[in-house]
Amino acid sequence: MPSNALFYLTSNDMPLVSHADGIYIWDTEGRRYIDACSGAITCNIGHNHPTVKNAMFEQLDKVAFSYRTQFESQVALDLADRLVELTDGELEKVFFVGSGSEAVESAIKLACQYFVAKGQPERCKFVSLRPSYHGSTMGALGLTGYEPLEAPYRAITIASTKVPSPDLYRYHEGSVEEHIEAVLKQTESAILTAGPETIAAIALEPVGGASTGGRMVTQSYMDGLRALCDRYGCLLIMDEVLSGMGRTGEWFAYQHFGVVPDILALAKGLGSGYYPIAAMMARQELVDVVSGSGGFMHGHTYAGNPLACATGLAVINVMETEGLVSNAVEQGTYLRLKLDQLADKYDCIGNVRGIGLLQGVELVQDKASKQPFPASFNAFDKLTALAKARGLLVYPRRCLDGLAGDHVLITPPLTVTAADIDDIITLLEDSLSAFEKLAQEQAA
Ligand SMILES: Cc1ncc(COP(=O)(O)O)c(C=O)c1O
Repeated sequence: MPSNALFYLTSNDMPLVSHADGIYIWDTEGRRYIDACSGAITCNIGHNHPTVKNAMFEQLDKVAFSYRTQFESQVALDLADRLVELTDGELEKVFFVGSGSEAVESAIKLACQYFVAKGQPERCKFVSLRPSYHGSTMGALGLTGYEPLEAPYRAITIASTKVPSPDLYRYHEGSVEEHIEAVLKQTESAILTAGPETIAAIALEPVGGASTGGRMVTQSYMDGLRALCDRYGCLLIMDEVLSGMGRTGEWFAYQHFGVVPDILALAKGLGSGYYPIAAMMARQELVDVVSGSGGFMHGHTYAGNPLACATGLAVINVMETEGLVSNAVEQGTYLRLKLDQLADKYDCIGNVRGIGLLQGVELVQDKASKQPFPASFNAFDKLTALAKARGLLVYPRRCLDGLAGDHVLITPPLTVTAADIDDIITLLEDSLSAFEKLAQEQAA
């Protein structure tokens, strides 16, 4: 009997998943899809990897779950050490959780508790960008700037002060540098209006994800944000739930800029879809202050359990053994070249942006004026459905505060080859042709 007990956001009929391998995933009807978005930008090492499966089985044979107030586990200690090494020791402490939202939630709470312990309890407000996505739990939602997600919960959310995200595609003010300067000025005046002594942290995704379609920032922006944090005594939180773990061609996107956050949130690629594991990393001093004041008043039952940590360790081993961070650079360059060629060919592509294997394709109704499609046309969903019908999975969202603008993310597993990218581009091109036809019919 078909079940109708499950509900999620969408009411569309979904295919039932059967199995997956590498960059492919099959439904129970035998249809094969190329997973060109790694699920939700998660399966970074591809599906069905024997090394990770074996590590998980091995751990299951020993102990799946032990609770962190009763036992420490060697795999948790090892994974924490590995993560610190990946930051070159710039962030020395690790706190495991189970999801990206929990990692962001932990970052918010660590920042708050740090200032309480330092005798500055008034520092409990946050500044974040619009648009942005930081997760679905209440604290993380408070940082999020994506109108449709915020609206139903406005009355019960403690919203951060929102400042504009740099927009290197649609900015109006003169040069890129003038635009960055203007955005930084707006950020500073928002801090001054809120009261600098009340700000705990500025939070951002160093490379944009689903809410912006891979928006990039500049070195000057990152330097400017760090300078604002230092000037006003607040912390810098980077949400690398999506951009971290090699996706952009560095282990962490902040490493492209050499601007180190005080707190870092990681998830998705850390467990690569094999098991929920996420982490908050922080500077030693923050943790020392909080630990010295009675400890971090926060935690989740499944956090840092042995099976989760064994999975994360195996994922990092695979990434290192197979050179997946450098493959993200190499294949990301190739993917970008091919997407830029599609942008030259298709009027409906306004902009391609991103870095490494985190690439966003923004759709527009009019290329010259950058005018988006009418929101009611749901261009992002339409292109995604056309691609799915052709056996290609891409990740759709809106880039203008969730209200308008359409993009899809092309974020295949970091194991992708040039031949795989050719296949992705062939299917995407076919989908774009069908999409343009649909858009023309709609306009007629
Ligand atoms: C940048 C960013 N932060 C936080 C989250 C929330 O992660 P999760 O869905 O694992 O709670 C996401 C999820 O897409 C994300 O992209």
